[in-house]
Amino acid sequence: MQPRDQWTSNLGFVLAAAGSAVGLGNLWKFPYITYANDGGAFVLVYLLCILLVGMPIMMAEIMVGRKTQKSPVGAMKEAVGDAWGLVGGFGVLSGFLLLGFYTNVAGWTILYVVECLDWSTGGFDSAQAGGDAFVGMIQNGGLQVGLSALFMGATVWVVSNGVSGGIERAARILLPVLFGILLVLFFNSLRMDGAGEAWGFIFRPNFSELGRDGVLEALGHSFFTLSLGMGAMVTYGSYMARRDSVVKAAGWVVILDTVIAMLATIIMFSVIFSQPGLRESVGRSTAGMLFITLPELFYTIVPMGKVLAPLFYTLVGFAALTSTVSLLEVVVSYFIDERGVSRKKASLICGGSTFGLSILTGLSFGAVGGLSSFEIFHEEAGLFATLDHFVANWALPLGGFFLTVGVGWFMPKAVTRAELEDSGTPGFVYPVWLFFIRFVSPVAVGAIILAVILGEADFN
Ligand code: PHE
Repeated sequence: MQPRDQWTSNLGFVLAAAGSAVGLGNLWKFPYITYANDGGAFVLVYLLCILLVGMPIMMAEIMVGRKTQKSPVGAMKEAVGDAWGLVGGFGVLSGFLLLGFYTNVAGWTILYVVECLDWSTGGFDSAQAGGDAFVGMIQNGGLQVGLSALFMGATVWVVSNGVSGGIERAARILLPVLFGILLVLFFNSLRMDGAGEAWGFIFRPNFSELGRDGVLEALGHSFFTLSLGMGAMVTYGSYMARRDSVVKAAGWVVILDTVIAMLATIIMFSVIFSQPGLRESVGRSTAGMLFITLPELFYTIVPMGKVLAPLFYTLVGFAALTSTVSLLEVVVSYFIDERGVSRKKASLICGGSTFGLSILTGLSFGAVGGLSSFEIFHEEAGLFATLDHFVANWALPLGGFFLTVGVGWFMPKAVTRAELEDSGTPGFVYPVWLFFIRFVSPVAVGAIILAVILGEADFN
């Protein structure tokens, strides 16, 4: 067997894990679900979930990976007990489903790079770039499938080249540049008329506007955005050297991810609240918010926007790539570690079968009637919306729930303590973490899930 690959340093791990966490969840999904859930209260619950549930589970997942140096199924078996391999298996399945719809949105970034190049050279027309144009694009089935094929191809290519070679190198360059452009956008957004209204919308909580399903969505999104609940962080942790600190790494990933999500949201709402027509456009197609709002900002306000716009969508594409890579890596590492398949072969087979699923989800934006209209979850029509809702709101929180129970209650304390404590970790960290992983996180996740199940008969 080949020796197991490793990150080149602690920074390498942080960048790769942050590359997994920072993606379309931050830039595409969080802003639009914040809009759909009326802002303030939703954002507050989301931030609480990140802190009370996300952070402890992030530490637990990295720890299980680093300790066992195995991918999720083997890692859970070894760290917690044979039956817990099922939790890892459930994660592999969630990863497969998630990647099956995520690649579609990732594919839109490729098209937007091309669009922006066109706008930068030929001129930008708001009316033409609005919601209807977006809807027209996603209803074009051939285009959707072609775009996901390109994106899946890129993902397979990186994963087949292995972790430290492909993944880490990509994240090292991309994250800092993406962050820089977001800052430029952020400072420009502050000058817009709608900025005040935007900040109010995001930060002034109004609990009468948040229902049970909104709370579940906030919880689910905290898992989605941090790449938790399906073993991605277990897998990345398994490539971590034992000398690296779990606590520090987890803290950095959580902070980076949250800051980027908040920046993206503030930027987008400042644009939306500054241009009345845009609000309507976005209202008709919330899923397209990232693609409908920002061209406005780039082409009408930001200095050098013509240069920054294509660069920005390129970076969003790469941020999505460092996430799809971590998703595929979970599935691929299962076949490498547990089934003895070679990395190249596993990448091709897993990527190919996930692409099969993305063809179906890509045709569910209106191109094929039957795929686009069926409804299992209330107001989530079509395969894409159904998978997104199922994975983010149900599968990841459930996976995370069993992980907290397994790690908190069934791993010996001496083992978890030894894993978390190193020379740099203050003494209070371990007992606080243990309290959260045993009580706070599972109770919070369990209570929200139960409240939703018991509260509404049609499961949403
Ligand atoms: N965290 C990624 C994002 O926010 C999505 C993801 C989820 C990646 C789960 C890996 C695992 O875009």
